[in-house]
Amino acid sequence: MTLPDASNCVVRPAVLRDLDRLLAIDALCFPPGIAYPPQEIAGLLRTRSVLTLVAEKSGTIVGFAALGQWQRHGLRHGELITIDVLPEYRRERVGWQLHQGLEDWLRAGNGGSIQLHVAVDNSSALRFYRQLGYRTLARVPRYYLETIDAWQMEKRLD
Ligand SMILES: CC(C)(COP(=O)(O)OP(=O)(O)OC[C@H]1O[C@@H](n2cnc3c(N)ncnc32)[C@H](O)[C@@H]1OP(=O)(O)O)[C@@H](O)C(=O)NCCC(=O)NCCS
Repeated sequence: MTLPDASNCVVRPAVLRDLDRLLAIDALCFPPGIAYPPQEIAGLLRTRSVLTLVAEKSGTIVGFAALGQWQRHGLRHGELITIDVLPEYRRERVGWQLHQGLEDWLRAGNGGSIQLHVAVDNSSALRFYRQLGYRTLARVPRYYLETIDAWQMEKRLD
């Protein structure tokens, strides 16, 4: 399960001036209807309880990830809202490094778990999440576009 850091990217918190680049990346990673509307990605960047990280290679953003968080029983839990890596930079551990940054942030605040939803037909993401230690909790009918089922998955941090 432990992956070495084979990516030479720099991970940093996103800022508002990254917005156009994040919108462009999201549109390349997801089909219309599943890609986030501009106002929702702008909302992520403005919401204090959401951590959005970007991954840069040679000064260019090649991926990003966003995590919402809440407290329960003294533990900090997260919901992975999105994780996007440009197609030409995949399988270089960019996604893993972004996820590691989010996970480190949660662990530093007494992290309990991370949950997410992923379309049942998104085999690349499913393999990615399983490799990162997620397990399936439930199948959620018609989660995307009211037609595509999703797996609800969880990674426990304890
Ligand atoms: C899912 C995604 C973020 C993975 O990003 P990535 O940078 O390519 O992933 P990594 O290189 O960090 O992969 C880490 C490990 O996950 C597994 N993995 C990742 N993509 C995989 C694929 N397409 N097929 C099989 N295994 C895969 C591998 O075990 C990989 O390690 P390896 O390359 O040494 O075998 C990327 O494919 C993506 O942006 N997809 C489109 C958007 C999306 O579907 N996001 C998830 C929405 S829920």
